[in-house]
Amino acid sequence: MSIYLGSDIPKHIAIIMDGNGRWAQKQGMARVFGHQHGATRVKEVVEECGHIGVDFLSLYAFSEENWSRPKEEVDALFLLLSNYLRSEASDLHKNNVKVIVIGQRERIPTECVKLIDYVEELTRNNDGLKLVLAISYSGRSELVECCKSVAERVAQGLLSPDLIDHNVIESFLPTADIPDPDLLIRTSGEQRISNFFLWQMAYTEFLFVPICWPDFSGNDLRQAIQKYQARNRKFGGINTENLPVKEGREDTL
Ligand code: FPP
Repeated sequence: MSIYLGSDIPKHIAIIMDGNGRWAQKQGMARVFGHQHGATRVKEVVEECGHIGVDFLSLYAFSEENWSRPKEEVDALFLLLSNYLRSEASDLHKNNVKVIVIGQRERIPTECVKLIDYVEELTRNNDGLKLVLAISYSGRSELVECCKSVAERVAQGLLSPDLIDHNVIESFLPTADIPDPDLLIRTSGEQRISNFFLWQMAYTEFLFVPICWPDFSGNDLRQAIQKYQARNRKFGGINTENLPVKEGREDTL
């Protein structure tokens, strides 16, 4: 039986799907084997988010830094992404999922870009789960692009520097119409954000889980949401609830 989650469902969950390589190597297999299993988990977690009623799910599928991996692994990852888009397009559409891809599209292989364009167009008017795939993505690069766009507006006399605020910056990001993530999950036990959503995660709750991505199930996602629900989000304000305070101090970090 699946875990009951009640009504406090995070609107936007972001996931760093880490640990595919280690998962495969532990079994004496090539790293690509881990990515293949990882792709099946993508399908399961997307479906689970639809059932739970999550509005946005962002998956960090390929970072700008991932281009430095061996060509064989990069090719295999784009093949997997293309296969996923090709084989899932009609189910995603049937399930009312809207697919949005962010990242440096100009670096992505042409065949994969064609599929991205096709699936984005096919699902454009869907209003169920919004599935954001970050492909060839870098948080720093998108901020650099944003700065360039703002600077151009200023240079053209269309924007006064005094008027630049959070809203202006956000309007120049590819996530302009996407709410900030409520919850970031990183699998594999690593505890860092690796250039993902640097601007957007200012008040995101982080959860680092010791499970490698190819083992992460729909039930693990529900458990992660339960942990999120037990967090006390203050957004820099003060707590209005009477939460217990730990006695003394922790002896060890
Ligand atoms: C990180 O694990 C994972 C990736 C760089 C790729 C993620 C891709 C997939 C899960 C498959 C395709 C995606 C979709 C959306 C269909 P790692 O290789 O860095 O693992 P390691 O830290 O153990 O080496």
